[in-house]
Amino acid sequence: MVDREEILPKYWYNVIPDLPKPLPPPRDPPEAEFSRIDLLRKIMPKEVLRQQFTVERFIKIPEDVRNAYLNIGRPTPLLRAKRLEEMLGTPAKIYFKFEGATPTGSHKINTALPQAYFAKEEGINHVVTETGAGQWGTAVALSARMFDMNATVFMVRVSYEQKPQRRTIMQLYGADVYASPTNLTEFGRKILAENKDHPGSLGIAMSEAIEFALKNEIKYLVGSVLDVAILHQSVIGLEAIRQLDELGEEPDVLIGCVGGGSNFGGFTFPFYGAKKGKKFIAVGSYEIPKFSKGDYVYDFPDTAGLLPQVKMITLGKDYVPPPIYAGGLRYHGAAPSLSLLIKEKVVEWREYSEPEIFEAAKLFMRAQGIIPAPESAHAIKAVIDEALEAKKTNEKRVIVFNLSGHGLLDLPNYESMMKRSLK
Ligand SMILES: Cc1ncc(COP(=O)(O)O)c(C=O)c1O
Repeated sequence: MVDREEILPKYWYNVIPDLPKPLPPPRDPPEAEFSRIDLLRKIMPKEVLRQQFTVERFIKIPEDVRNAYLNIGRPTPLLRAKRLEEMLGTPAKIYFKFEGATPTGSHKINTALPQAYFAKEEGINHVVTETGAGQWGTAVALSARMFDMNATVFMVRVSYEQKPQRRTIMQLYGADVYASPTNLTEFGRKILAENKDHPGSLGIAMSEAIEFALKNEIKYLVGSVLDVAILHQSVIGLEAIRQLDELGEEPDVLIGCVGGGSNFGGFTFPFYGAKKGKKFIAVGSYEIPKFSKGDYVYDFPDTAGLLPQVKMITLGKDYVPPPIYAGGLRYHGAAPSLSLLIKEKVVEWREYSEPEIFEAAKLFMRAQGIIPAPESAHAIKAVIDEALEAKKTNEKRVIVFNLSGHGLLDLPNYESMMKRSLK
């Protein structure tokens, strides 16, 4: 048995130098009235910005960040879903990396911690961000606290109202939480002037957080989409490689869900870099169909267009997801590196509907006891399909997926899915 500290990597893995084609860089829109790249320099911690643009393959994890990772329980467990295999009657072996085991309940803390740390290193004592369902906001709130900083979180209004528990957790960690659109920013006021009951969106909340960072000269932490978030998330895949080695397993299929792409990239890219795994499956939502209906173009990550444009698979920055949908994964785009790997057919994609992911989640919870985050249930649905295909062909394939979070604070989502499935 190797101990925890040895499994926890000392370096993050950056996929950019290993991509089959050069990654189109972030850019200022043609004929821009101001430079978004300059603006990014103002709002991101310097070291985070440097890592965003680096082409180094491995980047050292600072000792303080490694200690913080150990402190929140990294490495997370790699578990075998034996009872799920039995229930499916499949010859496949199913393993999952359980990112729901962190104190905040998802993988998001893996990048919140280093970003907060790098801000602190610059002498900043206040960070700001946006959040949808609250997983990212919670991770930032705890990370800021761990490095003795204040945190402000702009939370999408519908979630703020539907997810009071996540708001409470952020407040318990000491963060200020606002329902976005707010009256605190120019962009928020503009949206409210058009519709005072606007439900909010991730893109809007992101724009408000960036404006707030600029005005108050504090740092903005980015939760997904930009390459630096995926870089930090590579601890997931790097640990999983070590953990599978310990078991003497070679993975065949690697599966993860995709919102902006951070847990998927963090989990699968280290395998791709190490030339392990035959098939990579990125799973999105049928209701937010970026893979099937999105375009691969330069687009803004945020609705106000304050961040540089990146080339990605996107439904457009103004996309507003269907209001009743409870499955998460509502973001309009997919990270540039992931988009490129999909276009190059290295990574396959699937899209599943809410009733399908709900059935998959129920099967998983009844087999393994863990209530998955609705986002992660998308990955589970693909895992079940792969396991059933292996059953047809009687193949012993090894399927490994990332269980990006638990769903204990997403019970309102499950309640609404239950109600709708009874109709
Ligand atoms: C548990 C969980 N999984 C997945 C996601 C999707 O984000 P990403 O694609 O960046 O991992 C989220 C986003 O909030 C999440 O909370």
